[in-house]
Amino acid sequence: MMQPPSALSNEDVESAYARWAPVYDLVFTACMRPGRKAGSAAINAIGGRVLDVGVGTGLELPMFAPHVKVTGIDLSEPMLAVARRRVAAAGLTNIESLRTMDAMALDFPDEHFDAVIAPYLLTVVPDPHRTLDEMARVVKRGGEIVLVNHIGAEKGMMALIEAWLGRRAAALGWRPEFPWSIIGDWLAKRPDIHLLERRNLAPLNLFTLIRLNRT
Ligand SMILES: C[S@@+](CC[C@H](N)C(=O)[O-])C[C@H]1O[C@@H](n2cnc3c(N)ncnc32)[C@H](O)[C@@H]1O
Repeated sequence: MMQPPSALSNEDVESAYARWAPVYDLVFTACMRPGRKAGSAAINAIGGRVLDVGVGTGLELPMFAPHVKVTGIDLSEPMLAVARRRVAAAGLTNIESLRTMDAMALDFPDEHFDAVIAPYLLTVVPDPHRTLDEMARVVKRGGEIVLVNHIGAEKGMMALIEAWLGRRAAALGWRPEFPWSIIGDWLAKRPDIHLLERRNLAPLNLFTLIRLNRT
């Protein structure tokens, strides 16, 4: 089946983030900080064993409380190399491992984690539904999936701009057009997953905190 023009492959992601890795922190620390803060606060309230999917350079890692035991995974080795340096420099003893892994095929047993967090990941992965299925598989019943994401405009000028930018998704390394229906359609297929919270965040409501729970 042909992929739509905005679809990303794992190869696109790997080459885009190999380019982003050396400058990622310079560009993306401040503007996406409120989302990481909100996501990590939700996780800190749960505690236990947590999976951070698409941990990147690990900008959110120092925000987890010491009692949260974190495993981080990412497809991009150059991004993970920065995360490993950050963990060592800050002496973050609660970060248990950082592993190269595909979010769409997680190498963990079912119901392994108390919570899963994915800040700024879903707009990047080639198949968001498969990724959500994997997160739901590895989280315990009663556990939470915490997402931070840009939710694209459904209509109007912003939707047109995002669709135009979407044609450059492979070079950017993410899809600017990401309608809520991608998550909504998945939720409709998963009666075991419930939407706990959907909250717009600074700056300018550009990002959304989404908390899901598995029953
Ligand atoms: C926008 S960055 C977010 C990084 C970090 N969470 C943050 O808040 O800065 C997205 C990350 O997702 C990773 N990624 C994309 N597709 C992936 C996949 N299929 N499996 C694992 N990681 C993936 C990318 O390599 C990149 O590091």
